[in-house]
Amino acid sequence: MQDALLYATSNEMQKRDAGAALAAIIPGLKWNPGEKILDIGSGSGDVTVNLLARRIPVEFEIVGVDCSEQMVEFANQSFASHDISFQHLDIEKEENPCHLFPYKFSKAFSFYCLHWVKDLGNCLQNIHDLLIPGGDVVLVFLASNPIFSMYKILAEDSTWGQYMKDYEKYIPVYQNSSDPKQEFSNLLKLAGFETVLLEVNEHSFTYENKNQLIRAVKAINPFINRIPEAEQAIFLMDCLTTLLSLDVPTKNGKIEARYNLMVAHIKKKK
Ligand SMILES: C[S@@+](CC[C@H](N)C(=O)[O-])C[C@H]1O[C@@H](n2cnc3c(N)ncnc32)[C@H](O)[C@@H]1O
Repeated sequence: MQDALLYATSNEMQKRDAGAALAAIIPGLKWNPGEKILDIGSGSGDVTVNLLARRIPVEFEIVGVDCSEQMVEFANQSFASHDISFQHLDIEKEENPCHLFPYKFSKAFSFYCLHWVKDLGNCLQNIHDLLIPGGDVVLVFLASNPIFSMYKILAEDSTWGQYMKDYEKYIPVYQNSSDPKQEFSNLLKLAGFETVLLEVNEHSFTYENKNQLIRAVKAINPFINRIPEAEQAIFLMDCLTTLLSLDVPTKNGKIEARYNLMVAHIKKKK
């Protein structure tokens, strides 16, 4: 993901789901003045500032981290303040994340990021290392979504396949899992977390029209920038046609996207 402005103006579904998880979980957390909070995969920074920061009931410091330099730069330019900053971190690949921060975090949040991560074990270990004992973590990410089946179909297409050779890198670990909850639960235990809440539920989001869906698909599409500009509109139309062929209901021009969302509240043991 590189176009932070496009993402920040087409992430209605992501914002709705992050807001719902925060509304359900934040009131049950214990808060102390001076909370040090990590937002993993903070992207354009709008969710960090407009959803997360607004719900913290005490004085805080938030660090948003992202593996994309473009996202970090956009977030710092658009949303940084005396108590919120953004910096580069690849939560999957980093070997020793603690050396990047002068302190450990009391809480960590991550919205719509972990489905980009292949090595969830190392990612969870890193989150664990960055927390104080008893620290809370709230994770919201896609277990599966027809968009990723659409990637597979287009990667086998004679026109688009050349730009999508590494498409498997972008298919979430649990896309084809019959029991994502159990598999993730096993990883949480291995990393040393206690589970307070872990659920995988089907959600749906209605796009008002095809253009709104195309913008949303474009904003998260890892292949679009590899495609010559003159062909990008055709590629996006093929994305839409393929998606609609995958049992995605439409009614009066509106399109209903259905997907499975993992929501977890976990704690580092004291
Ligand atoms: C869909 S955006 C979500 C942004 C924001 N959290 C929100 O809810 O709108 C996912 C973000 O996760 C970032 N990301 C993906 N893999 C990552 C990793 N291994 N480490 C850190 N950030 C990652 C991407 O660069 C992208 O900015």
